Amino acid sequence: MDVQKLFADRIGGEQFGKVKQTFKFTLINNAKQDFIAKNPAVKVIDMGVGEPEETPDRSIMETLFEESQRKENRIYPCNGILEFQEAAARYLARDFGLTLDPKTEIMHCVGTKTALAQIPLAFVNPGDAVIATAPGYPVLPRVAEWLGARMISVPLESRHNFLPNMDDFEQLVKRERPKLVLLNYPNNPTGGVATQEFFAHMVELAHQYSFLIVQDAAYADFVFEGKFISPLHIEGGKEVTLELYSLSKSYNMQGYRLGFVAGGAALVKAFALIKDNTDNGQFIAIQKAGIHALDGCEKFLRDNKEKYGRRLKRVAEILNKAGIPARPSPGTFYLYVDVPKEFRGVQCATAQAMADLLISRYGLITVPWEEAGPCLRFSMTFEVGNKDFASEDEVFQALEGRLVHDRLS
Ligand SMILES: Cc1ncc(COP(=O)(O)O)c(C=O)c1O
Repeated sequence: MDVQKLFADRIGGEQFGKVKQTFKFTLINNAKQDFIAKNPAVKVIDMGVGEPEETPDRSIMETLFEESQRKENRIYPCNGILEFQEAAARYLARDFGLTLDPKTEIMHCVGTKTALAQIPLAFVNPGDAVIATAPGYPVLPRVAEWLGARMISVPLESRHNFLPNMDDFEQLVKRERPKLVLLNYPNNPTGGVATQEFFAHMVELAHQYSFLIVQDAAYADFVFEGKFISPLHIEGGKEVTLELYSLSKSYNMQGYRLGFVAGGAALVKAFALIKDNTDNGQFIAIQKAGIHALDGCEKFLRDNKEKYGRRLKRVAEILNKAGIPARPSPGTFYLYVDVPKEFRGVQCATAQAMADLLISRYGLITVPWEEAGPCLRFSMTFEVGNKDFASEDEVFQALEGRLVHDRLS
């Protein structure tokens, strides 16, 4: 039998596996290995991948250890335990002043990535228009496209503070009548944060043109200017919004795979139906560790936020000194800059060209984004206290030495 005939069109059909694809992160990794081979004595500064570099708080790990030994926690958790939903509701109320009914308006998920893949199954029919901002996290757009959605992307640009231009956006929804609009604030990769006016307008449009807002709030805890704003803060927002919260970034629990979805009861119920049919829920011991994190790790969260805020400021200073205009992002742990036309005499027509230059010449890893003009993302999750860099200051010194003084040390 020719297995090539078995593959679905959405993954390339008979061509699956035959077409050579080069993924962005593979290119970055190849360039990194190349640099290490040529410069074995030089330490790589890794500001590439955006995932927390430290462990969760010890008390979270201890809770997991203890709870994993309880017999009653072994069972299929299915759509979760009410105690976790209650802890999520307490966190939303305490940190953001949001009121949600834990029984009907909150549902845990096995990480928000999984929820982003499940949500289209509940809302998208073939031919429906789905709007997503770009650059952005690609999971929901990809799955929606697999389901036959017409994907429309809306650019996020610095001149609009990385929010969609609302005049254009209103025309777009009037014309295309989307079923679902995916937003992500605080935004990966741009670091942009949303305002009250922005969400008020979005909620108004959602009611007027009947679309669902899916708001990915994976970075809700990292807002450095103003405060975190959600469509759920807006009157009438709950009825038209599903918002996703993650424990991955806030509590360094990315491997634990735990988050939750919050929004109108009917919307959460639809998500829960798909979830119930596609996963069996997160291990109850992990949900218990999550309850502990949400209820009892405020200091850990504050320290984490403080660390990223400090790093954003220092790295922005160094980039400015190096002639790369940068300002600390108002949210997330990413610094996002426009690629200069040339750097150190090298023309950088694309973000990929600039990223290649920074890796090959300075052993500095960043992530290029081309979707709304060439930009580079620097993640503040670089590791210190390891064999390469004993402290943050050592990283900053190395970064300054390389980018400002053109010295590889
Ligand atoms: C914007 C955004 N949404 C969702 C996720 C997925 O997070 P989780 O670990 O909750 O699946 C990420 C992870 O990088 C992200 O950047």
